[in-house]
Parts: sequence; structure tokens; C-alpha cells
Amino acid sequence: MLLSDDEHWVLSYYRTSEINGSLFFGRLARTLKPSPIQHDLTKHFADEAQHAWYWTECLGRLGTRPIKLSDAYQDQYLEAAGLPANLMEIMAITLVFERRVINQYAKHLAVPDLRVEVKETIERIMRDERWHVQWVRDALVGMEDKFGKDNIAATLRRFKEADREVYAHTLEEHEARLGFLLESRPTPVED
Ligand SMILES: [Fe+2]
Ligand SMILES: [Fe+2]
Repeated sequence: MLLSDDEHWVLSYYRTSEINGSLFFGRLARTLKPSPIQHDLTKHFADEAQHAWYWTECLGRLGTRPIKLSDAYQDQYLEAAGLPANLMEIMAITLVFERRVINQYAKHLAVPDLRVEVKETIERIMRDERWHVQWVRDALVGMEDKFGKDNIAATLRRFKEADREVYAHTLEEHEARLGFLLESRPTPVED
């Protein structure tokens, strides 16, 4: 069965978002001094680049090619959340963003009669995304002495607020295309 226009668009959108994630974390990794964060962030951006490849490959298996899209989810993020002021804030916005990504993919996995190619791609990506949430959460715990636990919690709340706003806006903007995802009921990832 051929891909619908909406599915084609959504899978291409995921690919573009993964490319943007990789570029964002790659640039950041380039600025860091040797440290455990430099190590994990390098693996992180390499994973996101692979995810962009998996979507490209998946679309190929489905007999098509990715649509060229100019904007990605992240573009609206910094606008809504404000520019992160330090590494802790970057880690905080990353944690909020990665949770959003996992929830979005979980939502997609719950779509009835999902194509096997899409299901396999999401499951493959989710294994890495779980680690992304894990290491960033650990990195933030490691920053508590320097930045203060309450300050980190407040920063996370601020970015969560911005995330909700951006996601609501994205759903509104692309309602017709994302409609098939709204029917499914995923289990949200724990905070
Ligand atoms: Fe990813
Ligand atoms: Fe990720």
C-alpha cells in the first residue's frame, strides 16, 4: 500500500528534526572541553545523525524519498523558551525536548495497523532516545552543586511550559497532517 501524503510528510518531518538535532548537538559538542559531557554529547549527536539516516532509509523502503522541508520543530523552540544562558540550561532544554521526542514516537507507535517499516524504524530510534533522556538527566543531577537543585527544577519548569506552548502550536499548524496521531493513546514517559 502506498504512503499517504500525510504519512510521507510526517516521516520527512521526523527526518528533518533529527538532522536539526544532530547539527545543534554537534555544534555544541565542538565547543566543549574534555569532560564526560563532551563524551556523551558526541555520541548523542552521532545518534541523531543516524536517526536521520534511518528515516531516509525507511522512506526508501517505502518506495519514496524524503520531502525537503525547511522548518523543524526545534526552530520554534528557542524562540519560545529563550536562549539558554549556560550549559545547565542547554541540558535542561535538551531533557524537555528529548522527552517530547520519545512521547511523539510512542504516540506514533500506538497508531493502529502501523506499517512494519515505520514500526521498526521507531523502535530502533527509541532505544537511543531512552539513553538520551537518561544521560542528560544524570548530567543535570551532576550539576546540582554548581547550579542549585531548585534553580535546575525552576529552569526545567520554564522550558516545559515553553514546550507545551510549541507543541500545541505545532499541532494546530499541522492538525490535518498529524490528525491520525491524535487518535492513539500512548503512555506518557515519566518525568
Ligand atoms: Fe533522534
Ligand atoms: Fe534524541
